[in-house]
Amino acid sequence: MKNLTIYNPVKIHFGAGEIENAGHLAKSLGKKAVIVTGKSSTKKTGLLDKVVKLLEKEGVKSVVYAGVTPNPKNTEVEEAAALAVKEGCDFVIGLGGGSAMDAAKGVAVVAGSGGKLWDYIGMPGKKAKDIGKSLPIILIPTLSATGSEGNPAAVFSNPVLNQKAAIYNPDKIFPAISIVDPDLTLSVPPKQTAEGIIDVVMHVLEEYLTGEIDCDMQDRFTEGIILTCMEQGVKAIKNPGDKHARAQIALSSTVALQGLPNSGRAGAWVVHPLEHAVTAFYDNIAHGAGIAAILPSYLKYLGEVKPDKVHQLADRLFDAPKDIKGELKTAFCIENIRKFITDIGLSDNFKDLDIGMENMEKFADKVIEVGGLPWKLDRERLIQIFKDAF
Ligand code: NZQ
Ligand code: ZN
Repeated sequence: MKNLTIYNPVKIHFGAGEIENAGHLAKSLGKKAVIVTGKSSTKKTGLLDKVVKLLEKEGVKSVVYAGVTPNPKNTEVEEAAALAVKEGCDFVIGLGGGSAMDAAKGVAVVAGSGGKLWDYIGMPGKKAKDIGKSLPIILIPTLSATGSEGNPAAVFSNPVLNQKAAIYNPDKIFPAISIVDPDLTLSVPPKQTAEGIIDVVMHVLEEYLTGEIDCDMQDRFTEGIILTCMEQGVKAIKNPGDKHARAQIALSSTVALQGLPNSGRAGAWVVHPLEHAVTAFYDNIAHGAGIAAILPSYLKYLGEVKPDKVHQLADRLFDAPKDIKGELKTAFCIENIRKFITDIGLSDNFKDLDIGMENMEKFADKVIEVGGLPWKLDRERLIQIFKDAF
């Protein structure tokens, strides 16, 4: 295990009904908020109006930017930041799924430091501009998936460049406060619930699969999160009003990327950069849907080059029969992961997502362009993982 630093300054208020504290908590950060949200769900559920009123009650003014689309675009962030500057907002509230929350982080940067969002994004051959000032941020998730509410990352799409890339900055874009009220997720339809669940699973699985092997506590923590997501996920999809299941998934989502489960591993993220290359071209595909399609193929590759953790998953999650070993154990693990993916209503391959085989080299080159080759992969292996996901 590597030495590690644990740093997470987010004040997380978790639990059913916590949304009622939004006004009071917001008051501690500023006088006027820009509320960054998606195009429809928070209006439909009445949450947006409710938050505006809770702020008003505490004397906090607000303006609303309700133009964030899934896989949020750089232009949306820049529009919302311009609104925040024009209206003299001194803090940002991200209200919605990961897209609205990430957009809010981008707004905090662009409204605070000026310029264009893409200036702050680095990639091979392009140094990111330093973020000077960023506005304080409150995040209120309405979908359990990204864990953006507990981490200093934000992912954005640039449709002109066909790039999807992230800002990761613990000094500038950690939210100051997050309000995680699992009741806000009761309205999430089954498909988005499932996409969120596989995303949470992948957030702990990435480094589990590739990182240091002697991380016993982190392994158990990771397996606990995955098992919780599997058990409670099936319940929430069958009965969207199951408050207990929703709360357990929400807590798993927030904790998964908050630092501890992945600490000391120094593992590599592979499925995420591959998925981001897919949604860079296919904006209509959700992040979780892309992950579900790639994961079985990635496990097949790992079964060849680093099978230890794939086999550990087979034993600990799926209770593998004692007499199966080697390739058979890898196949057993993959079969069970595929079953989990399809049981919650997702596709385990690109074909079902209407992504044609002709895209695979293009995806691989996009991964390399935006982040370089992940882990020990070369271009050929990268293409092969994409092809095997077909
Ligand atoms: O856009 P609205 O109208 O709000 O509707 C959304 C959207 O259509 C809807 N929704 C959200 N909450 C709802 C709801 N519908 C009914 N009831 C509710 N309570 O769900 C749809 C998807 O929302 P979105 O925010 O796009 O989903 P998600 O939370 O999965 O976020 C995905 C984005 O986050 C990035 C992804 O790449 C993607 O761009 N990620 C961010 C990470 C981070 N910041 O740490 C890490 C992740 O790995 C991920 O890359
Ligand atoms: Zn993710």
